[in-house]
Amino acid sequence: MDAWQVAALVLGLWLLLGLLAQGGALRARHLAARAPPACFVRAPRPPAPGEPLNLCFLGDLQRGVASAVRPLGPALAAARCHLLVSSGDFVSHGEPPYYGILLAAFERADPGVAVRVVPGNHDLYPRRSKDERIGGPPFERCFGPRRWALRLGPALLVGLDTAGNRHFERQADWLDQTLAAHPEVPWICVSHRPPFRFDEPGEPPVPDLAALHARLRARPPLLHVSGHLHRFADRTVDGVRYVVNAHGGDLHGYDPGWRAFEVLEVEVGPDGRLGGVCRRAVRRRPDGRTYLDQFLVRLWDERRRWPWRAIAAPAGWLLRPLGLYVPVVRHPEQRPYPS
Ligand SMILES: [Fe+2]
Repeated sequence: MDAWQVAALVLGLWLLLGLLAQGGALRARHLAARAPPACFVRAPRPPAPGEPLNLCFLGDLQRGVASAVRPLGPALAAARCHLLVSSGDFVSHGEPPYYGILLAAFERADPGVAVRVVPGNHDLYPRRSKDERIGGPPFERCFGPRRWALRLGPALLVGLDTAGNRHFERQADWLDQTLAAHPEVPWICVSHRPPFRFDEPGEPPVPDLAALHARLRARPPLLHVSGHLHRFADRTVDGVRYVVNAHGGDLHGYDPGWRAFEVLEVEVGPDGRLGGVCRRAVRRRPDGRTYLDQFLVRLWDERRRWPWRAIAAPAGWLLRPLGLYVPVVRHPEQRPYPS
């Protein structure tokens, strides 16, 4: 092979990889425009009179979306679930294409019940830029308000935004008013970060969530469910029962995703008393189309940085006149992270 042939081979490969990256950007643009499927919009089915309320909670899902969404439907049906609640970190990063991956996966594998979501830090912040003004709007477009209250059968379910540092401050008055409007009603609270670091020695309090713990202490819920931490915990602090639902399907490092994930099943009796709180292991079922979407969106994301920025450039020049070029959007880097 002479020098010209080597040069032609390198240029051809460069163009091919560039077209792949630009194809990823086209798919990302398509996913970013997806509407939420019915499960995120439909009203939850209340329990029949005299029957218990069965709630299921899913912890951090993020990168596990390709293998943990397909088996949800049968698992929820077996639990006779009325409502699935995500305790946040539902998507990998807070930008519309990542939301699109999840929406498409849920559309293909309809879980069969209504789904409600509270935001986690990954839902509100894009990669390398901890700015909730970027991830907040797609969250609200897909899943509705970041804090919500839902009366379902014997219980009131309250979802709060504790995704970032001091987010709870904005909702303290709303929580007081919501609880005051439902006196005597047993309630369950769900928020992404718990008020204590149950995964650290001594389990210290989280400073910005002291006000939340004070409110829970004043009117103890049946249960507070959270995610965020990577270790399961079931603790009672000052009369408040905290469950950290840690194994919601997310994959860490080079985990190939063969191990089961967990759904937390919570039963509330018709009299409003807490019944069983059970960790149910669910076997993963891979979804090839979601893996492909994850790969393509990752290319779209990497196109902002070296070396993919250089690899994708020539293909971009070719696609521009055809109207097939997706402009690169970069966010200012802001590193402060919620503690
Ligand atoms: Fe988190």
